[in-house]
Amino acid sequence: MIGGVRGFFEQETAAKKEWYTRDLFKSVVYNSNFDLFSAPSANWRDTFYCVMAPNPPHPQQLPPVCRDILIKYSNEVQKLGRVLFGLLSEALGLHPNYLEDIECNKGLGILGHYYPPCPEPHLTLGTSQHADSDFLTVLLQDEIGGLQVLHDSRWVDVPYVPGALVVNIGDLLQASKLLPFNNLYWDNLLVTNDRFKSSEHRVVANERGPRISVACFFSTYFLPMPRRYGPIKELVSEENPAKYRETTVNEYLSHYHAKGLDGTSALLHFRL
Ligand code: OGA
Ligand code: NI
Repeated sequence: MIGGVRGFFEQETAAKKEWYTRDLFKSVVYNSNFDLFSAPSANWRDTFYCVMAPNPPHPQQLPPVCRDILIKYSNEVQKLGRVLFGLLSEALGLHPNYLEDIECNKGLGILGHYYPPCPEPHLTLGTSQHADSDFLTVLLQDEIGGLQVLHDSRWVDVPYVPGALVVNIGDLLQASKLLPFNNLYWDNLLVTNDRFKSSEHRVVANERGPRISVACFFSTYFLPMPRRYGPIKELVSEENPAKYRETTVNEYLSHYHAKGLDGTSALLHFRL
């Protein structure tokens, strides 16, 4: 998959032009900095993006250089997604199908990131601080490094581990946030297993490169989805009232995109 992404970006510019667009709602998108006109600064990164579920593009619409691997990888990640959402549901004390039933794994977008070598890495970032805008992200990174997670107000490297995937809880699922999982409940969970702790992350720029990563976003923002998401009823009570108002994935994403990666949480907008 890493090779497929590299293959896409290292084509002739003329070949890539076919996919270039700033319309984020197309099912195949190639551009640089989705938030170029809203974020306070630009990132040292180009991105290729494909909506692979529930309605994948016709294979002919996918770039030939990575078509086969995209389809294969997408199928595998969807299988993994089903397992992860089942485990997350159980971890919250819910029925194993709970998160699948509310369509958290219905949609999948695959983002291939290409971070070219940066001559002055101290002046910029590969990706600014953010939490992902989806329910869950399955991330594959190469050996260059640069991914960092915010832990106790410090940036900690997430090193490359051969064969390993990084799984991020996104804003829409973030514990104690939008589907909360009221604080008390989540804190209890944290005590037993802090692997589920939600986190802010970023990618520093690097003189070495290119760095390639593949982020699989479980989200449905590209579908007109009327379904409303809010605190799960089973998880709120009088003592632990809902902290966020209900919203749709589309409304949430519009706000996230309009704001851009400015270092603040898009969820503040939805706080009660
Ligand atoms: C993202 C992201 C990290 C990386 O796509 O949201 O955080 O390693 N990517 O490219
Ligand atoms: Ni991210």
